[in-house]
Amino acid sequence: MSGSIYRISGGSALHGVAPISGGKNNALPSMAAALLTHDPVVLSNVPDIADVRVLASILQAVGVDVQFDAEAHELTLHAAGEVGDSPPRELVTQLRGSFLVVGPLLARVGRAVCAPPGGDEIGRRPVDVHLRGFAKLGAKVAREDGCFVLDVDRLAGAHVVLDYPSVIGTENLMLASVLAEGRTMIVNAAMEPEVVCLGAMLNEMGGRVAGHGTHTVMIDGVERLGGAAHTLIPDRIEAGTFAVAAAISGGDVQLEGAEPRHMDAVLSKLREIGIETEEGEGTVRIRGGGALRAADVQAVPYPGLATDLQALMTTLLTQATGESVVHERVFENRLGYVDELCKLGARIAVSGSTATVAGPTALHGARVEGRDIRSAASLALAALAAEGTTELHDAGHLQRGYERFHEKLADLGAEIAVLTRAASGG
Ligand code: EPU
Repeated sequence: MSGSIYRISGGSALHGVAPISGGKNNALPSMAAALLTHDPVVLSNVPDIADVRVLASILQAVGVDVQFDAEAHELTLHAAGEVGDSPPRELVTQLRGSFLVVGPLLARVGRAVCAPPGGDEIGRRPVDVHLRGFAKLGAKVAREDGCFVLDVDRLAGAHVVLDYPSVIGTENLMLASVLAEGRTMIVNAAMEPEVVCLGAMLNEMGGRVAGHGTHTVMIDGVERLGGAAHTLIPDRIEAGTFAVAAAISGGDVQLEGAEPRHMDAVLSKLREIGIETEEGEGTVRIRGGGALRAADVQAVPYPGLATDLQALMTTLLTQATGESVVHERVFENRLGYVDELCKLGARIAVSGSTATVAGPTALHGARVEGRDIRSAASLALAALAAEGTTELHDAGHLQRGYERFHEKLADLGAEIAVLTRAASGG
């Protein structure tokens, strides 16, 4: 799938309404939660993206009945019968979020045999935070034939201090401990809105989760959970992406369905750079076109500026006057897109996890390659600001995380065409 090629001609200011889909990184843990109950779980506002479809296939492979009405964005998951303990390796290795089935499998069947998860190549991305947490909850953890093998009779609540506030690490431990015996405290937990939404969903299913949204999450295990009808939160990274698209093209775009409360850091940084923002209930208006000023950026855990928006902000800063310094603090290898951006004319020097951007630069069309979801998005947006035509290769990464990416851009007036579409998802 990553073989897709997009052709983008720059120069059009984007205008209109960008509908924001439900959150990818909220969909994945919410889907995994369906393994915790024999009752149906109905998720609304589910984005039709490859990562959701692959996780749905994984759930199906372990015995969950899956119905996806993609048009209505409604996903029904029902794990009524026996559930298997071994998600298929060829699917698990397609996305990082696949590892989220391990916590629920331990809670439900006391065993999980899972390959190391795949996903974007943006750093080492170990799963030690997850494994050490599961061990604290009483699981035996071993490595066999390249898979993690975890076993437990029944998980027991524990005091778990995370070395790092890992997002899906926190989610996995919440999913496991909600059916454990006794109380679990997760200290140094992630505070991302997706974690908060998962806590609310687990409580809707009959769980007893408190403190989600702070660095200490407390879970009192229950004997059983029921189903849920749960609506996913808007994708704050997709919203940030379209905000940068509006800004870099000098346009005026309404992000419809966005949640401004989850976008504090990015909106404040955009204002500092010289972009006008107007926040409403479930909507944000982004207006570019004025002079852009250099700014320094730190990509850090929530509520700071998201690492998933780091490449996009760097791309925007190529158009700002002065020197901007961007520090990536979450992943050790998330500046790999810079070489591609430089092919479009950007002047960026990288030292370790810091990028220094000299601006403004007149970007020009070129042949570039996407490395992962967010780098592909950044290159597409750079192409909007470039003179001439850009061929974005490996654009299929976008389909993993953005629903109808090129259609939404085209609806706003971008000149974007899909030259080849590769066959399979992932
Ligand atoms: N880390 C460890 N050990 C672990 C887990 C993480 O050392 O066991 C390290 C990582 O190597 C990294 C840092 O901790 O340096 C942060 O990783 P985190 O675990 O928080 O990331 P994640 O939970 O695997 C989620 C999102 C990512 C997003 C990050 C950070 C999902 C499915 N993925 O990943 O999303 O970048 O949080 O916010 O929720 C994306 O959507 O493009 C994407 C990559």
